[in-house]
Amino acid sequence: MRLPTRVKMVEVGPRDGLQNEPRPVAAAARIELIERLADAGLGAIEAGSFVSPKWIPQMADTDKVLAGLKRRDSVVYSVLVPNLKGLDAALAADVSEVAVFAAASETFSRRNINCSIDESLDRFAEVAGAARARGVPVRGYVSCVLGCPYEGNVAADAVARMAARLVEIGCHEISLGDTIGVGTPGRAQALIEAVSARVPVAKVAVHFHDTYGQALANILAALEKGVACVDSAVAGLGGCPYAPGASGNVASEDVLYMLDGLGIRTGVNLSKLAAAGRFVSDVLGREPASRVARALAAKERSHPA
Ligand code: HMG
Ligand code: MG
Repeated sequence: MRLPTRVKMVEVGPRDGLQNEPRPVAAAARIELIERLADAGLGAIEAGSFVSPKWIPQMADTDKVLAGLKRRDSVVYSVLVPNLKGLDAALAADVSEVAVFAAASETFSRRNINCSIDESLDRFAEVAGAARARGVPVRGYVSCVLGCPYEGNVAADAVARMAARLVEIGCHEISLGDTIGVGTPGRAQALIEAVSARVPVAKVAVHFHDTYGQALANILAALEKGVACVDSAVAGLGGCPYAPGASGNVASEDVLYMLDGLGIRTGVNLSKLAAAGRFVSDVLGREPASRVARALAAKERSHPA
């Protein structure tokens, strides 16, 4: 099994996780969560999104969150932006990176951002050009890469074409989103092969939701195909408001435990990460969805330090 020696973990909990909570989490708690994640050693944190608050009220106050952070040079603070209005707000908030988000499925594109795939690419080309002109790198997402809640199966080649188009408009990294968490390892590998025929694998990230409990297996399968960038959400927060039935992102603690066990370097500290997960779970009044976090808590209860 050939695996990367180092993996970049991209923490999406403060955005992808909290956007799907029924009730908004206050900016102060979002700030504390992000500070704790940075303390744990995460170098890439999605801090929120500048989207319409009518569509995603949970991400309102992303400007306050960014204003309240003690910025560290070691951390890239990223936000999602759907259009130039979002980009302007992101630039005003002095983000280090923005992310645009396209879909491989026409219906999902319309439901999520109210436009067709082609219209979204035109819009994102404008956004990416303007961001890059200001020296801000752009990440690109492709959603529904292994299935769509409305259209079912999605062809790997359609995803590969979308990924290539996002690179053409200037995205430095392409995150492949299994938005509804339906993928399995064989299909994940076939997808990475199709995408890496068009986009260098060094630019590819994977973003698995864990609806069917396949996310860790899919990540390992992707690592075997040369992927070295993995999105996850602390405590397994997350989902997508436009993807019915989608569960949270794969838990960062679970990903890190696996990577640590494989001897793959990440720079992230598991016990600090788990503490960040407990913090946000307490705010939400629930147990972390991370199996590793629950196992660590049980161990601590039986052998207190
Ligand atoms: P629209 O209604 O077509 O936009 O929405 P519009 O241009 O007609 O504007 C309508 C209103 O929204 C106006 O306000 C605008 O000012 C406002 P009004 O005049 O009615 O008061 N507006 C904005 N406000 C704040 N920030 C903005 C902005 N833009 C317009 N940037 C739009 C189009 C794209 C704005 C809307 O559909 C939207 O915000 N969608 C966001 C959807 C979203 O955030 N989805 C979740 C993230 S994607 C995801 O989770 C998947 C991912 O994790 C990967 C995976 O798992 O696969 C990334
Ligand atoms: Mg997602």
